[in-house]
Amino acid sequence: MSTEQTVWRVRATVTDTPGSLAALAASFAWHGMNIVSVQVHGMPAGAVDEFLVEVPATATTDDVLAAVSAGGGTEPSAMRADVRDLVDVPTHVLTVVARTLAGGTGLPEALRAVLGVRELSWSPADTADEGADGPVLRLADPEGGTLELRRDGPAFTPAEFARARALVDLDHQLAARAERTVLLTAGEELTVRTATRADVPEIVAMHARCGPRTRRRRYLTGTPRPADAELRRMVNRRAGHTLLALRPDGAVVAMGNLVWDGDTGEVALLVEDAWQRRGVGAALLGRLLRAAASGGVETCYALTETTNTAMIRLLRRHGAAVERTEPGVACLTIRPVRADTRVPG
Ligand SMILES: CC(C)(COP(=O)(O)OP(=O)(O)OC[C@H]1O[C@@H](n2cnc3c(N)ncnc32)[C@H](O)[C@@H]1OP(=O)(O)O)[C@@H](O)C(=O)NCCC(=O)NCCS
Repeated sequence: MSTEQTVWRVRATVTDTPGSLAALAASFAWHGMNIVSVQVHGMPAGAVDEFLVEVPATATTDDVLAAVSAGGGTEPSAMRADVRDLVDVPTHVLTVVARTLAGGTGLPEALRAVLGVRELSWSPADTADEGADGPVLRLADPEGGTLELRRDGPAFTPAEFARARALVDLDHQLAARAERTVLLTAGEELTVRTATRADVPEIVAMHARCGPRTRRRRYLTGTPRPADAELRRMVNRRAGHTLLALRPDGAVVAMGNLVWDGDTGEVALLVEDAWQRRGVGAALLGRLLRAAASGGVETCYALTETTNTAMIRLLRRHGAAVERTEPGVACLTIRPVRADTRVPG
């Protein structure tokens, strides 16, 4: 594609008669536009075709719609796409697989590229009302709560609902299976994996085994632990990324949280007292930072007591710098490393 071209996602109804598609392609070509890919969405009343089209940069929405109408397409809609959308759907799906197995999530990027989703939001209430409402799609989140997908373009079709459902389920299934065994220096074996809401009771039990000093260092308050609803929100992957370290008997001994905060992410760790100083914190932090990098986060930060030597040492090992200090609490920032970069832990 030359630099004077832009990519558009164009949708239109094309009659099911020989030559209709050729007429539309010819009209695009006559207007200096080039079809790069075509997908057919089955609808109750027929089929809608969706095209990715290279369009001269000077063309407006009206120009694109005019080219469709002149080629015999009806009920047209057009929205600007991203050059990355030229990658085909199977490649986007494989990207979800790779990123989610690496501990991040490829879901938002895949939904944007495959379905033009501009905004992915999550709310904790479950829904019994899945489906499309114009350019808004509601899905039950397999991790609990409801996902809402929005785009600027046309209404979601049933085929797109099915694709969104499949992508969300794929991302969920992979995240649950992306386990890693960690060998600690003393030879103990722990499993590290992404938390789900089914882990909340074991996370609560782990908090009960932590002493008050450990809990205060984690939450910087006197709270014994977050409420169950807050823990369920924390482990939901729309809010962030929570890793657990588990003993072979399934007991949780440590939790690492990465909470999405716009373009940044907050990292926090909690290792049960009896498991501290064995490398668990280092193992979790390294993985959280790799997940942050694969999720496109450029800067992470951590809040810690200024006397918390263990956490500060751990963060400094990853190149953290003190951003600011408030009475007794320091904020350190880190630039996460990519998944293919080796880090300690
Ligand atoms: C801070 C914490 C996460 C560290 O986890 P950990 O598993 O004990 O740490 P590791 O064994 O991976 O060791 C990490 C580093 O800290 C050092 N360290 C660990 N405990 C230490 C201690 N009590 N005093 C001094 N240094 C200590 C280790 O020597 C290691 O340093 P090195 O890499 O330079 O050798 C853990 O102690 C903890 O959960 N503390 C309570 C909660 C908390 O403070 N959270 C941080 C704020 S969010």
